Amino acid sequence: MNREDFPMLKQNIVYLDNAATTFKPRVLCEYLNDYYMNYTANAHRGDYDISLKVDTMYEKTRNKIKNFINAEKRETIVFTSGATDSLNKIVCGYFKYYLQEFDEIILNKAEHASNILPWIELANELNLKIKYAELDENYNLTLDSIKKIITDKTKVISLAHITNVVGDIRDLKGIISYAHSKGILVVVDGAQSVPHMKIDVQDLDVDFLAFSAHKMCGPTGLGILYGKEEYLNNTHPCVFGGGMNATFNSDNIRVYKEIPYSLEAGTPSIADVIAFGPVIDYLNNIGMNNIENYEKKLKKYAIKKLKLVKDIIIYNENTESGIITFNIKDIFSQDLAIYLNKYHICVRAGNHCTKMLKEDLNVKNTCRVSFYFYNTKEEIDYLVKVLNNPSLKEEIL
Ligand code: ALA
Repeated sequence: MNREDFPMLKQNIVYLDNAATTFKPRVLCEYLNDYYMNYTANAHRGDYDISLKVDTMYEKTRNKIKNFINAEKRETIVFTSGATDSLNKIVCGYFKYYLQEFDEIILNKAEHASNILPWIELANELNLKIKYAELDENYNLTLDSIKKIITDKTKVISLAHITNVVGDIRDLKGIISYAHSKGILVVVDGAQSVPHMKIDVQDLDVDFLAFSAHKMCGPTGLGILYGKEEYLNNTHPCVFGGGMNATFNSDNIRVYKEIPYSLEAGTPSIADVIAFGPVIDYLNNIGMNNIENYEKKLKKYAIKKLKLVKDIIIYNENTESGIITFNIKDIFSQDLAIYLNKYHICVRAGNHCTKMLKEDLNVKNTCRVSFYFYNTKEEIDYLVKVLNNPSLKEEIL
């Protein structure tokens, strides 16, 4: 779908690493260019025309994101540098003050580093307990496995909506509603889901949500932190400086602004925020449901074809997202990625920042293909053809 909108797709490559980052549509580049060429100014600081235009454009993007995830208020949308930054701000700014010694946090071993390491740091600092919910035989996370380890000390569950290696789509609604019935808060890493499906934070009743712009046709270095108003109001800034304070003096008196500005210290990534607005329109025009359905079909097609490749081991054929993780027997995943690169196919190899998963998967490194709406069945056919090359092992070994 929409391949003509992506300048990168004019190159002779098959790009199957969209879980890492996606290609950018022309509209993003045009808006970035326009800001840098025609109205460069800081945000929220000037009283002249170009600065006022920047403010309007900047805040317009906030409104678009609010509508995109159906947040209740524009103030609940905070610009960060990425999903990692958002998760760190949630952990350091809210949970550091909310949790108390011996409280329990539920994670699982399929999570990305950015949804585990901040929690480990906090647990060490406050003497909290982290519990890892068991994954089922397909490495999926279920509500039942979470239920098994909940105690009256459990205060928060933090989980990806879709994980970046297994790609299972978690039952957020069920998990959140059960968690809330026990007074437990839920933090969602939406880095791999928000780009691929319609997310309604009010319907899901999410407490906090983190995601990145660059995984959804947007610029690098920009992320979103959504939180329910009552929680964000109690989220302490972790970064201090200009733009987030109302006043301060030499008696150490300082007054910080209200959300979202209290959490956006310093000059923000202005061009990126402005250019992300039209990208949201662009995705809305395609339709998030269309994107989700298209990618599901692509995944089904890919699994059917890949299963016929000699010596392939697929680790997640039953999940619905556009992520497929596999190895070819006796071949090191990175060697396979380098081999595919010779044929201009881009995939990711390694542990994908999900270093605990190997404890359950019993394999340290895998190859991963991940789709976006501009990928095609023809590209999958080409991948399969290159993997079926009878001289594959000779070329690698
Ligand atoms: N989190 C990104 C990935 O899964 C970088 O590749």
